[in-house]
Amino acid sequence: MATECYTQLGFGFQPKLVVDFAGGTLTTDAGLLLVRQFVGHALPLGDVHHGRVETALATHAPAAGVHQRSWTLPPLRRRLSGRAEVKVQFLGHAGLLIQGGNTRILMDGWFSPAGAFDSSWFQLPSNHHLGERDWSHVDAFVVSHEHLDHLDAGFLRRQSAATPLHVVSFGSPLFLRKILRTTGRTPKVLGTGREYQIGEIRARAWIEPSPMNQDSVWAFTHRGRSIVHTVDSRLSIEELDEILEFTGGPPDLLLLQHSGASWYPLVYEILSPVEKRMRSLTKRERKLAYARSVADHMRPGTVVINAGPPAFLDPQLRQVNADPSFPTPGESRAWLEKVGYRGRVEAPLPGDEIDLRTGEMTEDPAMHGEFSWAQAESYIEGYARRCEPAIAAAYRHADELRVIDMDAAVHEHFTAMLALSPYFNERIDLTLCLDVEGPQSGRWLIDFGRSPSVRKARDGDEYQYRYTMHSRWLKRILVEGLPWEDFFLSLRFTAFRDPDIYNDHLLGLMKFNDPASLTAVEEYERSLSDETIVRDTPDGLRCEIARYCPHAGAALDHAPIEGHLLTCLNHHYVFDLDTGKCLTGNCVLRARKLS
Ligand code: FES
Repeated sequence: MATECYTQLGFGFQPKLVVDFAGGTLTTDAGLLLVRQFVGHALPLGDVHHGRVETALATHAPAAGVHQRSWTLPPLRRRLSGRAEVKVQFLGHAGLLIQGGNTRILMDGWFSPAGAFDSSWFQLPSNHHLGERDWSHVDAFVVSHEHLDHLDAGFLRRQSAATPLHVVSFGSPLFLRKILRTTGRTPKVLGTGREYQIGEIRARAWIEPSPMNQDSVWAFTHRGRSIVHTVDSRLSIEELDEILEFTGGPPDLLLLQHSGASWYPLVYEILSPVEKRMRSLTKRERKLAYARSVADHMRPGTVVINAGPPAFLDPQLRQVNADPSFPTPGESRAWLEKVGYRGRVEAPLPGDEIDLRTGEMTEDPAMHGEFSWAQAESYIEGYARRCEPAIAAAYRHADELRVIDMDAAVHEHFTAMLALSPYFNERIDLTLCLDVEGPQSGRWLIDFGRSPSVRKARDGDEYQYRYTMHSRWLKRILVEGLPWEDFFLSLRFTAFRDPDIYNDHLLGLMKFNDPASLTAVEEYERSLSDETIVRDTPDGLRCEIARYCPHAGAALDHAPIEGHLLTCLNHHYVFDLDTGKCLTGNCVLRARKLS
């Protein structure tokens, strides 16, 4: 039997919380739990009914600001049987150790002393010691996606092969192949439409609808306590509601990524330092605004700001530490306060632990003794010295790779890429200049237009995109199959584009470079419904537009409109409703003026 928790308008139109558990007895504990689930935090004891209430309906005036809405909770009996022993230990960056009853799940642990992305990113603060811990008591590992600050292959290789590794499938075997190749493990693949029992913990994952964006959100529950780890996914309101239904109301803990995880606008040489800074600030605000909208919708007991910023310790990259797209947790927390977010926000350090039954946070004394965000700059100085050998090893390894004929290797690589997907080539429809510096330098043009081709560049040739990189990193790609996206995330390149428009399909083709993944994206994009909706601009223009964003399929029913510009909330592409043209990406929204 379902238990429902919802609001009604009571006397004076004040919202009233209604707990309807369809039979049984509502005790004080049950009332407290349900009320807490509903408003997102514990209310004072005197605010709820005391004692036993021998009726199927109990009403209570909730705290101010509760919006009218409802959802179905799992049966009361199941939620209240036994005490909810759920603890979460924060392991640095996006890593978590979740303990529910006797089950322990370790998610997205990243501990490598060599950092990630060829030692361009490092954990901040260092959590390398946690990788050396005995993790044999863990019942399962979870990895949300393929980025190396979430998938620590060396760590997973050292763990017992008997401990299962859980992942989701993104519609192609690429992620699974990467795990097998780098960790030697065959993961357990969970479907995204259903829940799973991992020991005593219920788990469910969500992914973005388009296979172009391969990231996943995970939710875990144990006896009425719940954790939602959003990682770097963008979810629709419908998906957030599905998560709330799974967690039975606001989660106790909501982990939100606040820091940048891409190379835009850092590497773009077309931008002046001032423009770059402005764009980084805009990007950060958008990311935080999205995080806030998720927190507003889910009303968790505690928001945890996590997954960054990383430390850039390579002398070539040290200036990135000051870029606004990588804010400190303190800056993000201050922003949330400034825009009126009033819920509890925590920014734990590695080793800190929260007890979800009491909400109490226990700090790791050694970590708090050696690191504080206020002194991050001087900490990074010493950290960089300690990590010099790892960075030098990454350079040495790349330098020692041998390519006998660079021209032939570049031709072979891009000729194969150009043959993968006419669908992608057609949508890229531009010429890319690959500008390689250092030993075996050269310039090549890769034409993705009607007659795809690769050739050496000549003076005066025209192109719309350019990547400039050192030949050592190109050798990592050509000889060792380093994925282009892993290279791009290292930030060891500069980029040019004219016009200044992001070409999503170019990145998609380069990062996947795999026929099955490209086919999955093509099938998804071709399947997008023709459904239309009518939206009005503030000055009264009525427009019929495609219901789903041409970028990655997000519903546009609630996309904000300013003037005649509509902004998709998923990745913030901006569309001109007069023409349908996307001002920030290479796609077009079907749009027709009705008045
Ligand atoms: S789905 Fe990416 S901007 Fe709309």
